[in-house]
Amino acid sequence: MLVYLNGDYLPADQARVSAWDGGFLYGDGVYTTLRLYGGRPLDLRAHLERLRRHADALSLPVPPTDTEFAAVIAHLAEANGLAATDGRLRITVSRGGDPEDPLPLRDLGRLNPTVLLTLAPVPPAFAAWARDGIAACLLEPGSARGNLPHLKTLNGLPALLAQRQAAARGCQEAVLVSEDGRLLEGSVSNLFLAKAGRLSTPAGTDGLLAGRTRERVLALAAQLDVPCERRSLLPADLLGADEAFTASSVREILPVVAVDGVAIGDRQPGPLTRRLQEAYRELVAVAVADGSA
Ligand SMILES: Cc1ncc(COP(=O)(O)O)c(C=O)c1O
Repeated sequence: MLVYLNGDYLPADQARVSAWDGGFLYGDGVYTTLRLYGGRPLDLRAHLERLRRHADALSLPVPPTDTEFAAVIAHLAEANGLAATDGRLRITVSRGGDPEDPLPLRDLGRLNPTVLLTLAPVPPAFAAWARDGIAACLLEPGSARGNLPHLKTLNGLPALLAQRQAAARGCQEAVLVSEDGRLLEGSVSNLFLAKAGRLSTPAGTDGLLAGRTRERVLALAAQLDVPCERRSLLPADLLGADEAFTASSVREILPVVAVDGVAIGDRQPGPLTRRLQEAYRELVAVAVADGSA
């Protein structure tokens, strides 16, 4: 696999980042992950806009232009044999570093950020999960992704520990819960519930990453005339839901058919989830076909 690192294309095992890079030392950086369909990224502009906005919150420059990013992605897809299949792309931008100043606090503009793009095939398991549904587990209150939950920073440890807990319990996703017991999001996704034909998703103000796919689902629900509320939700709402699903750029819409071993609905992907999955697939097909992907 070739990766892109600071202007070069390198075999993945030859890509080296400085031992002084603030991303490595402190999680000082941001990233985004998105899906390529037949070599084309969906929503690249929106992902880059978010990446730049989140980098801005850390006073971190993102030097490549959108056009340069698009060219790098096209090259990686071609060079890695992923121009005709689906791929998982990650764009990481971290602080860079200065050996003379390992804890840079001022004049951050003198540091050259590290820009890394990696592209891999989408794991085959995701298609089966989309078809059959996934099992999720609820984590303890206080399992949020840290103090900056609205930003996609390199402080990925809480989400990683959550995924490990999910894997240890034989689940594919972990649901994070705030200190005061509200549902937040999945460790790598946003969460939606359906009850009596109405959708709900945890409110952004409760402290979560309001993802691009969440926005897409909200727009699709509006198009399909399905009422959808952004509001505070509790674990009991999830356990009592008719349907639940997760949404993220790479995994798309995944039905949640069990939580902590308790069936959601009849332990099958529900009709509303299916409709939204289909509508999302159609949206992707159109975006890829007309080149706006
Ligand atoms: C914690 C978290 N929430 C939500 C999402 C979904 O975001 P998006 O739809 O932009 O991929 C992700 C994606 O990785 C995530 O890590």
